[in-house]
Amino acid sequence: MFPQYRGKLEYVCLGCGGRFGIDELLYTCPTCGQVLLLEDLNRDALRGMGDGAYWRNVFDSRAATRETALRGIFRYYELLAPVLDPEDIVYLGEGHTPVVEGARALQQHLNARFMFKNDGQNPSASFKDRGMACAFSYLRYLVRSKGWDEVLGICASTGDTSAAAAMYGAYVGAPIKTAVLLPRGKVTPQQLSQPLGNGATVMEIPGVFDDCMKVVEYLAEHYRVALLNSKNSWRILGQESYACEVAQWFGWQVEPLCLFVPVGNAGNISAIMSGFLKLHELGVINGLPRLFGVQSSHADPVWRYYSADPASRVYQPVQVRASVAQAAMIGNPVSFPRVKALADRYEAVRPGAFNVVQVEEQAIMDATIQANRHGHIACTQGGECLAGLLRARELGLVGPDELAILDSTAHSLKFSGFQEMYFNDAFPAEFEIHADRTLANRPVEILSDEEKKVLSVQAFTRAAAESVAERLKLHGLH
Ligand code: F0G
Repeated sequence: MFPQYRGKLEYVCLGCGGRFGIDELLYTCPTCGQVLLLEDLNRDALRGMGDGAYWRNVFDSRAATRETALRGIFRYYELLAPVLDPEDIVYLGEGHTPVVEGARALQQHLNARFMFKNDGQNPSASFKDRGMACAFSYLRYLVRSKGWDEVLGICASTGDTSAAAAMYGAYVGAPIKTAVLLPRGKVTPQQLSQPLGNGATVMEIPGVFDDCMKVVEYLAEHYRVALLNSKNSWRILGQESYACEVAQWFGWQVEPLCLFVPVGNAGNISAIMSGFLKLHELGVINGLPRLFGVQSSHADPVWRYYSADPASRVYQPVQVRASVAQAAMIGNPVSFPRVKALADRYEAVRPGAFNVVQVEEQAIMDATIQANRHGHIACTQGGECLAGLLRARELGLVGPDELAILDSTAHSLKFSGFQEMYFNDAFPAEFEIHADRTLANRPVEILSDEEKKVLSVQAFTRAAAESVAERLKLHGLH
């Protein structure tokens, strides 16, 4: 049942090209300090095992398996981390998130064709679980093979990485413990409650995510800790499953699609490119979809880089400003070198297929509110993708008949505070957002506590029902 195939994985440095074995957890190149990616040296053997049709059939047939080690992201085992044994694989129900067609009225109103992939329907309510399932499976393998009796997993986070790390850490348990570093006041109450509930050590630091990231990088350099941010390439491998799932859902025909992905630390968009490139290399798909990274004008270093003329591009971190796409509010994305390397490879297969668009905060919030009024569960980063699609339509980059897949990377409930600010038209000035007051929605009070006290149960029920009927202008039956 479990695949026989085992890969030979190596870390590859994106700076000097150095190669390193996976018997240690490396985050950056020991020689030049650049970020790494993991590469399977045996992948020719995969091609030898069968053609694209063979692999499509393997992945499709696993959809019905009850083997939990192959049930989540590791349905695509051979493409991700084919060094793990089933006993190490952690499965908490991640992956295979639904692709939901945009509500008809909304597609019509916006004159755009789109579907949301609801990655907020992962167990910790964000896409981070894909990467965390892989990182923790590898950690388990390390713990077992090295006989470690103590491991501290640590991460900086805008809220979702910490939620996922704490959840997987708590589930796997001893000898793994988890600690998370958060920018004080820049994580939503729901996100904060997640690592607290999972028993992680939660520490808050003044500043923004970029400040926290520097602290964990320092810790990873000077102390024995397991870094769980997407700087850890095992996270990237797990997140490649998003691309595989999109391809599989569309019957392995992805060329006509336009994918929109919010970009923060740039791990996700790197993983998605890498995933599609692997599928293409193995002949599982015959072409690549078009890919659009989306960034807010308040946190847009990747957009700035790609919007410049190719001859004069210089990467520069930016100082972020307040953003409702708070989970992606990052000025110096750790994975930027990965984006560059993978976008070059992506464009070599399909020129013009990699794009980045920039959107305003107002457009992000309007799109989020509109989507959810139409029955979606878009987080603000999902709204950012919808805003990105509208921007791409405006710029003529996407035609009215092209189908866009929008990555709603987290569940709307994690970001309900921004919805509340919108409904109360109460955004602090720095967000530069004003509410469309016609969209405000608040609970309507029916009867008071005093009335409840003085009325009998029957009288209360009748009074409440009549008040509701009046509110809703209901017509009586008699
Ligand atoms: N959407 C959500 C909901 C996120 O939590 C993040 C990143 C992104 C988009 C951006 O993805 O970083 O891969 O480009 N959140 C990280 C965190 C940084 O700490 O939770 P990315």
